[in-house]
Amino acid sequence: VDSDGRKRFRLELGEAYTEFLPGTRTATWGANGPYLGPTLRARRGQRVAVDVRNRLPEQTTVHWHGMHLPAEMDGGPHNPIGVGATWQPYWTINQPAATLWYHPHLHEVTAQHVYRGVAGLFIVDDPDADALPLPKRYGVDDVPLIVQDKKIKDDGTLDTSRMNFGGLAITGLLGDKIVVNGTYDPHFRVTTELVRLRLLNAANARIFHFGFADDREFTLIASDSGLSQVPQPMERIMLSPGERAEIVVRFRPGDDVILKSFPAPLGANFAYARLAGGGDEHDVIRFLAADALRPSAALPAALGAPPAAPRPSGEPFRLEMGDFTFNGQTMDMQRLDRVVASESVERWEIINNQAIPHNFHVHGASFHVLDIDGEPPPGHLRGVKDTVYVAPNSTMNLAVSFLPHSDPEFPYMFHCHLLAHEDAGMMGQFVTV
Ligand code: C2O
Ligand code: CU
Ligand code: CU
Repeated sequence: VDSDGRKRFRLELGEAYTEFLPGTRTATWGANGPYLGPTLRARRGQRVAVDVRNRLPEQTTVHWHGMHLPAEMDGGPHNPIGVGATWQPYWTINQPAATLWYHPHLHEVTAQHVYRGVAGLFIVDDPDADALPLPKRYGVDDVPLIVQDKKIKDDGTLDTSRMNFGGLAITGLLGDKIVVNGTYDPHFRVTTELVRLRLLNAANARIFHFGFADDREFTLIASDSGLSQVPQPMERIMLSPGERAEIVVRFRPGDDVILKSFPAPLGANFAYARLAGGGDEHDVIRFLAADALRPSAALPAALGAPPAAPRPSGEPFRLEMGDFTFNGQTMDMQRLDRVVASESVERWEIINNQAIPHNFHVHGASFHVLDIDGEPPPGHLRGVKDTVYVAPNSTMNLAVSFLPHSDPEFPYMFHCHLLAHEDAGMMGQFVTV
């Protein structure tokens, strides 16, 4: 806590080497370390500040994905941090408990910067969530899993040859090596009956379809923007890049079970599903349970009061996805695509008439999925979100709730979070007034 009463974090971005594969050295980027960055954590109501020092060889930005904060502090493409410079955003945490994350967002190079390793979690806590009997001992029964795929060449260097859209990489670069929290071939030693996993898809392009090798049920307790009202049992959950889910898993003494990523139901035609990695299957992390497990409190039947139904008003905003465009236009840093009233709720209609999978993320807001092709959303998309998968040939209506901040000059972004698509221009800007 600094002299102004703010909780102050330091992130120093730099270059280093990581040994993903035994005996090889991979040049990587990280924050306060060789790969990825620390988990930052703050409470609702807390005033925070971050000193982000850029010791990388290039300018970059650090964006607080999912954070409710003024656009000027958001770390989007308009907040470049020069080589050697320090950026000092500050804000007040003003949203429910949630698993958020941070990553670079410099226009046209986001894919490179995230792939090299700049990313980390930002966990928001609040008293309502604290009061619930959920697993909450960090690293013991409350475990972050930052899941990514890497393509590593024989000499140990990261293969970035299909980093940007090109050739057959229709969603961007796919890797065959899964790393979790920067570790290849990881395992976790389970010591409690219940373990809460905070899953983040921090991959550039790969869409993960998580589930256990023995098909055991787990319980979804939170999505991108916080706890679900009612915990939901399920066996699989699909997360596209940028999405988070918190799940609680029950283990038995002596369990040895693998969390996998199964072929993902992308809703694409056969060829495109293959090209987007939809047919792939991977081991993500192995769980080894002790012979005796500490008892865990049973999960509560409800995690909060039923949310008020979002009521969008005004003219809906129609966004048609094209070849790395929205409504036929690629990203222009000087163009504003939308002006919204602060604290308003708008209906945004997201249309993917292409054969290619996309997803959709909005800054400075959270949203509810109202419907997909006229149907109510499936269970895992009923919570409050900031990023969502948009299948080929589908139309989705979102009720987007904007923040109480207004700034007629400084824009927030919306974009496809497949980073190669974003870098190719599939992004737009809005201001709240
Ligand atoms: Cu996770 Cu605009 O980003
Ligand atoms: Cu974001
Ligand atoms: Cu896309």
